[in-house]
Amino acid sequence: MSEQLQPVGVIGVGWVGLVTAACFAELGHQVVARDILPEKVEALSRGEVAIHEPGLEELLRRNAERINFTTDMDELLEGARLLFVCVDTPPTYSGDADLSRVRSVVQELPEGSDHVLVMKSTVPAGTGESIRRDKPDLAYVSCPEFLKEGTAVEDFMHPDRVVIGSDSGDEAAADAVAELYRPLGGEILRSDVASAEMIKLASNAFLATKISFINEIANVCEEVGADVGEVAKGMGLDERIGTAFLRAGIGYGGSCFPKDVSALKMLAGNTGYHFQLLTAVIEVNELQKRRVVGKLEKHLGSLIGKRIALLGLAFKPDTDDMREASSLVLSARLQGEGAEVVAYDPVAAERASGLLSSVEMASSAMEALEGADAAVLVTEWREFAELDWAAAAERMARPLLVDGRNFLEPQPLVDAGFEYEGIGRTVSSPRPAPAP
Ligand code: UDX
Repeated sequence: MSEQLQPVGVIGVGWVGLVTAACFAELGHQVVARDILPEKVEALSRGEVAIHEPGLEELLRRNAERINFTTDMDELLEGARLLFVCVDTPPTYSGDADLSRVRSVVQELPEGSDHVLVMKSTVPAGTGESIRRDKPDLAYVSCPEFLKEGTAVEDFMHPDRVVIGSDSGDEAAADAVAELYRPLGGEILRSDVASAEMIKLASNAFLATKISFINEIANVCEEVGADVGEVAKGMGLDERIGTAFLRAGIGYGGSCFPKDVSALKMLAGNTGYHFQLLTAVIEVNELQKRRVVGKLEKHLGSLIGKRIALLGLAFKPDTDDMREASSLVLSARLQGEGAEVVAYDPVAAERASGLLSSVEMASSAMEALEGADAAVLVTEWREFAELDWAAAAERMARPLLVDGRNFLEPQPLVDAGFEYEGIGRTVSSPRPAPAP
């Protein structure tokens, strides 16, 4: 079956589509990758990759001969029967997933098409069923992506699990998809389509819940003098809990968690079920980004005219993705309080500057810290661990650091003269100076 269905087709060469195309090519398949944007297709055909994703550019270069980028749907349909749909499903104003791009892909498929639509885009449960109703000749397989930005190539090549959902009549198509993933060695879970769709949404919502939970624990730790790192470690040693995703910080961001949590909440709401827990998960995450302002005010008093340096802007390290980054809310809040904001990010600065027009962009961490009244570590880029913090203390107007990711060892910073604030961490900082 898999022989018959080759080569692999990819629809939408954003981040997911590009990683999917590059990795299938690396596994030896011919790939036809189609996008509606001619400039994107032309750039990729020239070998130019606009996305920062470790290992991706090299993989594309190495497999350039196996991947054909095109804007032409007919070329895709002639070249491939197995079509991996990797288009965006961004949130609408209501928080529902916007399925317009998925719908236009489906509409482009001719009547009687015997292609296999493999849905990688995150869609609400029930989407597969409605597509099958619209296009009864089409085989439909749900194969949600679980890639993490920054380690997407690695995640693709070494998956924890591959979820493949199909309904009656489409088992052969699902077998073909399973064959493609078999060489990767992860557990392949077969289910019905609606369950596969729910697995994706429920997984991301659960991970987001873990983060909001540990963030609330961190906030309580601050009140009772406990250390959230120790608490998370102690909790995580219980096998039923596990240590992963218990890092307290200034909230989750990115293209998936905020969108998927709200999509699941709305999906439930549309059926008449109020998913109370997710309402709280979202609210805790929003408040967590804002708590930094209070921490700064505790030391500085009013922030009017204070120069605050943001270290890191991307929603997490090893990516230039600014979608739902905590830095966006934080910088706006700081400016709202009258602060002057300067920022540095080793990779996301260019992407961020369009979004943060009134934020001054520095070309190094040290430059951002020069003359600053405080610094906030927003993204845990490795280079911040290697910074000469003693020299930074000399160059700042006031060596005050809010470590929004609990990334740095507090004691050496305190020894270098810093007032240090983490998230749910107990640190014996010098007493804050009285607010002016
Ligand atoms: C996530 C899912 O992990 C992935 O399976 C899915 O396919 C897409 O969404 P990604 O958005 O790349 O991946 O980021 P991830 O590494 O999961 O981190 C998401 C956010 O949570 C980041 O802002 C990160 O800083 C934050 N986070 C993560 C925490 O605040 N604490 C943690 O313990 C872990």
